[in-house]
Amino acid sequence: MTKDEETILIERIGTMKKVRKAVIPVAGLGTRFLPATKSMPKEMLPVVDKPVVQYAVDEALEAGIEHIVFVTGRNKAVIEDYFDLHPELVGTLEQAGKVEQIKSLESLLPAPGATSFTRQQAPHGLGHAVWCARDIVGDEPFALLLPDMVSFGKRGCLAEIMDLYEQTSGNVIAVEQCDPNETNKYGIVGKGPEVGTGFEVTAMVEKPAPAKAPSNYYINGRYILQPEIFQLLGTQKRGAGGEIQLTDAMVRLAASQAFFARPFQGRMFDCGSKEGFIQANVAFALKRADIRGSVLDAIREMVAEQDHVVAA
Ligand code: G1P
Repeated sequence: MTKDEETILIERIGTMKKVRKAVIPVAGLGTRFLPATKSMPKEMLPVVDKPVVQYAVDEALEAGIEHIVFVTGRNKAVIEDYFDLHPELVGTLEQAGKVEQIKSLESLLPAPGATSFTRQQAPHGLGHAVWCARDIVGDEPFALLLPDMVSFGKRGCLAEIMDLYEQTSGNVIAVEQCDPNETNKYGIVGKGPEVGTGFEVTAMVEKPAPAKAPSNYYINGRYILQPEIFQLLGTQKRGAGGEIQLTDAMVRLAASQAFFARPFQGRMFDCGSKEGFIQANVAFALKRADIRGSVLDAIREMVAEQDHVVAA
């Protein structure tokens, strides 16, 4: 970076509004995970020993977020209880002398008063869920994390796009490349000139057929958005799947504001799908010193057995 570029960057950071709040939508019904999600929110399914939603909260706090807004729905009250102290449990652990376990549980909690819960009263889509957070977020840029997508890498995905936001301001989304035949599963962006660690976004389309996709860069569930998105979401017509789509409102916002994308250096596991959820469990288990060896041995054995069955 030259001296001039550095001065421009420092000036921009000086005037740029800090991203303090993150929205985490947790209202989805989780029909892809029935029967497990019949009486339990999908966000509480564990990856190793932490619920999926805890990974999103950890990632937000790692990126410097100070307040988390959960957009919940019916049958999700257990998520609010999860992010609270549990005096009876602490008492029992204290009596058993399990001090380390108490410390570890407390370390997972956001600070008192640093969470808000609001409800999406009906399942009208992601755009509608985000719009439900408008009053709590107010007139400032915010981060959005879709908790089904669990970030796996040296640094969290949100911390990475926060870096690009500091270089560019505006709106920033994280992307990854998907199989070009699977563009109809995601929001897809068009790739423009490179900027800092990312690139300018030239188009955004929600779940396009491969022939209509502007690239194979898909939106992987992490966003930094300017508050003007809320007005647009308030008037957004239904799009793909008959739902109010966030991507459609972002397209309208892009008419007056810049959008940038940063390819994620790690990888996301889609824990809303069975395959992604199982892969996440294996990947995180292999990072854990206490269980890595036995999990690896078991996987090797199972693979060898499978090879044997296929060969027979
Ligand atoms: C949502 C977004 C989509 C994004 C995806 C990532 O879709 O609308 O743009 O690519 O999350 O998981 P959904 O998975 O809710 O259908």
